[in-house]
Amino acid sequence: MGEWFTVRRSDEGVQLLDQRRLPEEEVYLTLGSVEEIAQAIEDLVVRGAPAIGCTAALGLARAAELSAATDVPALVRDLEPAFERLARTRPTAVNLFWALGRMREVLESEASASGANVEALRTRLRDEAERILAEDFASCRAIGGAGLELVPDGARILTHCNAGALATAGYGTALGIVRAAAEAGRQIQVLADETRPFLQGARLTAWELSRDDIPVTVITDNMAGHLMQRGDVDLVIVGADRIAANGDVANKIGTYTVAVLAREHDIPFYVAAPLTTIDLATPSGDQIPIEERGREEVAEFGARPVVPAGVPVRHPAFDVTPARLVTAIVTEKGVVRPPYSETLRALYRETPRAVRTAES
Ligand code: MRU
Repeated sequence: MGEWFTVRRSDEGVQLLDQRRLPEEEVYLTLGSVEEIAQAIEDLVVRGAPAIGCTAALGLARAAELSAATDVPALVRDLEPAFERLARTRPTAVNLFWALGRMREVLESEASASGANVEALRTRLRDEAERILAEDFASCRAIGGAGLELVPDGARILTHCNAGALATAGYGTALGIVRAAAEAGRQIQVLADETRPFLQGARLTAWELSRDDIPVTVITDNMAGHLMQRGDVDLVIVGADRIAANGDVANKIGTYTVAVLAREHDIPFYVAAPLTTIDLATPSGDQIPIEERGREEVAEFGARPVVPAGVPVRHPAFDVTPARLVTAIVTEKGVVRPPYSETLRALYRETPRAVRTAES
């Protein structure tokens, strides 16, 4: 991969590649306060479920650094508004709540330990946030390795949104499989849905794959059916913002449409996601909160209005693909197939602490 990164800790705060400005400009922001970090998540400076979780964890560690508390109970009290603010940023990506839950676990267990020391607790939170990033990167590599078996030489792979290095601590989930296949010497080609309205496919997937010299062609979202009908797509791989216990998958708006098209054309539809995206506490997709974003994302293209003033628009940011349309889910623990209500749960029997969300 080239010399760039999605999210990093620095002594001045959290550093983020400003994804709103890609592909024209590669600009890094350093965000020093929790409010700035939360706004960066809301404004899509950083996006993608795992990257949101990583950023929130670093944000919480930053809050501990900024607190003037001189004893542990004061630090615990000081961090409450940071937990609350970061949890309010984006509702669909369960990795956000998972990461905050994990930070809270550390806080609670360390704070209740005898002889707890405020400076040691700050260090512990910082280390935990860094560990979340390192683990996410390792999970993406493992997803790439696990998914290799699904990608034959010569495969033409359609993807939606950006589930790449830009959406994770690095390497990517759906694009992690693409990268692993390219590294294994397979001649693959990626078709990237542009992904209206925020253009994660056109701007971000195309940017990061072209940086890695992986062949990528951008299509508008409404071309996917036509290309499938012509036999130009061999398989679909997408990421996920949250996978319910029954295997229903919430992902970027338009993913469901792609899954329906794939089924109609007998094309395998794969979802790549780490265990941190699986939410066993949510039984099915209809209970997944779907983020609504602002009118301007749909009613404007760039800064230019494309919808007459006063005409309403709809703006859900995600949709739910029913489990029955998902051929397999690729995790860092391997490829999981239906019945998902059994096979997903089995993953956690080997990894008991993997899921705990901070929503409830
Ligand atoms: O609104 P976004 O850009 O955060 O949506 C991102 C997606 O839908 C991704 O596919 C998902 O988060 C998986 S990222 C590995």
